[in-house]
Amino acid sequence: MITKTQIDTILSEYDQQKITVGTIGSHSALNIFKGAKEEGFNTVCVCKKENEIMYKRFPLADQIIHITNYTDLLDNNVQQELKQLNTILVPHGSFNAYVGTDQMIDKLQVPMFGNRELLHWETDREKQREWLKRAGLRLPKIFNDPSDIDGLVIAKFPGAMGGKGYFLVESPKAFHSKAEDMLKRGHITKENLENIHFQEYIIGVNVYPLYFYSPLTNEVELLGMDRRYETTVDSIGKIPATEQLEINVNPTYTVVGNFPIVARESLLPDYLRMGDNVAKISKEIASPGIIGPFCLETVITDDMKIYTFEISARIVAGSNVGIGTSPYAYLKYGEGMYMGRRIAREIKNATENNELKNLVY
Ligand SMILES: Nc1ncnc2c1ncn2[C@@H]1O[C@H](COP(=O)(O)OP(=O)(O)OP(=O)(O)O)[C@@H](O)[C@H]1O
Ligand SMILES: [Mg+2]
Repeated sequence: MITKTQIDTILSEYDQQKITVGTIGSHSALNIFKGAKEEGFNTVCVCKKENEIMYKRFPLADQIIHITNYTDLLDNNVQQELKQLNTILVPHGSFNAYVGTDQMIDKLQVPMFGNRELLHWETDREKQREWLKRAGLRLPKIFNDPSDIDGLVIAKFPGAMGGKGYFLVESPKAFHSKAEDMLKRGHITKENLENIHFQEYIIGVNVYPLYFYSPLTNEVELLGMDRRYETTVDSIGKIPATEQLEINVNPTYTVVGNFPIVARESLLPDYLRMGDNVAKISKEIASPGIIGPFCLETVITDDMKIYTFEISARIVAGSNVGIGTSPYAYLKYGEGMYMGRRIAREIKNATENNELKNLVY
């Protein structure tokens, strides 16, 4: 395991006037790089050959380190090169999904913006639930036994990534026939079925608030809001009900992109308090708590109840809707603020006050 002391030692060997902001080339890397450049940093992209075109066509990566697999980030020579560039890595969804939180905690010596331990909390559904519960958020009911199904539920299993294979059912009987069908059609595996759990399906609209917690100012900022564009759920409404029944579609939630949202103003006090509470509890569960971006996945019902079904303890791809600016970032900062830039601004403010060690773990 890489300790905070080791990270601090590496950081103390850095030239803090020449920090490079680095990340893996995918997910929200363009957002992170643009923000870093606008705040005057050098950038380094750890990138697969096939994705390099992106970081050249949008001229945002000052250097590119080639890798074959995302786990190559952990290779000694890659880490060495990053350290020589005085790199602070900004983690995003691909770090969790393709490098793995255990691996990062065990092997990654390059200082990372944020609290690594909380990435663990985000990837463990039970820990995640505990965090959200203690923060006083309203959560959908969950259970494991199909015979308890009584009303519309969403069936989920670990590691689906993007909700692939999740399905909706409303009774134990419907569950058994649907599970069999999904298995036959190869949408899910036997192992998925063994690890299944059910969540009360909340009927409402999805809203994903995008927050940033600054340890330097001790404030949670709301910098944007988005919703996802998901295939195939977002296409089902275009097919008349009679045909839907005939073709027997199984909605999936693979994310294709995101839309910005502006919520009605009366919802904002709740969202601000929710963000504050999540940050407060994060300090109790994994000291020193959340650092920088985090996001909640919420559903709002017709009686304006906000349910939270997930948290991300890092930058999310939904924050890409704010590249350039978003109404909420504008309200606080005026033109030109967004998640990638806010991260870089925090690093810059910290270097000026010699507080960088409070941001990297
Ligand atoms: N309890 C729920 N009520 C209503 N809709 C839900 C619920 N849980 C999930 N969904 C819908 O299913 C989608 C996928 O679920 P979820 O976010 O749990 O999957 P995931 O595997 O964690 O995906 P990702 O990591 O991309 O967020 C959500 O974006 C949302 O639209
Ligand atoms: Mg999710």
